[in-house]
Amino acid sequence: MYNEIDLDKINLDTEPPTEEPERQYYFMAKCRRYAACLARELGQRPTFFVQTFGCQMNARDSEKLTGILEEIGYEQAQSEEADFVIYNTCTVRENANNKVWGRLGYLNAYKKEHPHMKIALCGCMMQEPEVIEKLRKSYRFVDLVFGTHNIYKFAELLTGTFEQQGMLIDIWKGTDQIVENLPIERKYNFKSGVNIMFGCNNFCSYCIVPYVRGRERSRKPEDILKEIENLAKDGVVEIMLLGQNVNSYGKNLQEPVSFAELLRQIEKIEGIERIRFMTSHPKDLSDELIEVMASSGKICNHLHLPLQSGSSRILKEMNRRYDKEQYLTLVEKIRKAVPDIALTTDIIVGFPGETEEDFEETMDVVQQVGYDSAFTFIYSKRTGTPAAAMEEQVPEDIVKVRFERLLKEVQRSAEERAKALTGRVEKVLVEEVNEQDEALVTGRMGNNFIVHFPGTEELIGRIVDVKLKECKGFYFYGEMAD
Ligand code: 5AD
Ligand code: SF4
Repeated sequence: MYNEIDLDKINLDTEPPTEEPERQYYFMAKCRRYAACLARELGQRPTFFVQTFGCQMNARDSEKLTGILEEIGYEQAQSEEADFVIYNTCTVRENANNKVWGRLGYLNAYKKEHPHMKIALCGCMMQEPEVIEKLRKSYRFVDLVFGTHNIYKFAELLTGTFEQQGMLIDIWKGTDQIVENLPIERKYNFKSGVNIMFGCNNFCSYCIVPYVRGRERSRKPEDILKEIENLAKDGVVEIMLLGQNVNSYGKNLQEPVSFAELLRQIEKIEGIERIRFMTSHPKDLSDELIEVMASSGKICNHLHLPLQSGSSRILKEMNRRYDKEQYLTLVEKIRKAVPDIALTTDIIVGFPGETEEDFEETMDVVQQVGYDSAFTFIYSKRTGTPAAAMEEQVPEDIVKVRFERLLKEVQRSAEERAKALTGRVEKVLVEEVNEQDEALVTGRMGNNFIVHFPGTEELIGRIVDVKLKECKGFYFYGEMAD
């Protein structure tokens, strides 16, 4: 495991090793020297700030970047007024890109006053050739740019920024490599994301992810289990298994393993009390998985099952490979096996060619399923995806009206589902002291609903019984049950 490595014992007078992760350990040791030099110049340890945009995959990647920066001697800052700022970007929708461009303008102004500062960009947006072109042309103040496939080389790239002037760009088209045993600094002590696979093979016609995250690659079960065992030893009680499509986990391994089988193995790990996973593609959700969920004492009572659209015609255009009836049958099957399960979803409004009738089908599914919560998105045209070339893009004003209607229905159903829980006693993992009221703590139930209740800091990381006294729509006020 990583924490057995002593970086100060690495001989930097030799050539860097060619094997990973040893090569990165070598560069981490090198960076540690550069950081120490910088600390002498600054009169204090250099600071860093990692800003994450986008999904939980990115959040986990940011923990890897943080792990390396701390290991080489940087100290975490609370804002972008730091010696090293890195934006871990998202590109799933156009407004994700816009946010980054906007904030880069602000960073440029700050860097002009602090010329020693370094700025790095990484993540999904950097995998787009037009983005790199724009950076080269108009954003010369950026020091380092890398993508999703070579994030494991962060220490090596960072070394480059100390050794050369100008913008260092390293973007790969793809990789089949998974490098284990690099440092990770977790944001929370008691819960952690765990990557089980990377990439996506589904090519939903609107989605840019397969282009920027590459083909599906699963981690070996023994590596995943070892990581979770170590997390449990470290006090982690809840894990979130991460993958773009966890239901196809393990299919391409040399010795194939199903996701359900992986869950069975994880369930046995002592100390882990809650297991979550994200995201499940409906087309690949197996009966075996439903069985495991029904019989498990640790898998949370929550399933995120993206619908995207309720219209079978649009689903076909989206290349989702299920139709409305199949989705509803699946929901029925899951609810029968796990009656209390909370279902959440993602829905896109305004996919090219979406008619009023198509939208009504979406509303119909939302009403029939009764989601506990839903992420609703306005369709965003992503260059290079098949949907971007489709004619009949839906006019903005029509999309807006549909979006509002959908949002209302989703909120109504979420409130109804939440209200039905009032009065129950639920197990709650306490996550933090309430930001608005210090007398309260905030935690999450297995079904992902949030509850605030009187308590103190010592409860953080513990799972306690809480009576749900008052429903406030999407969250509850409660009190600890004796
Ligand atoms: N436009 C709008 N929403 C999108 N999503 C993915 N691509 C797009 C797009 N081009 C949504 C999907 C997916 C979620 C992560 O983001 O609903 O499930
Ligand atoms: Fe995108 Fe579809 Fe893959 Fe999800 S399953 S990441 S929506 S292509």
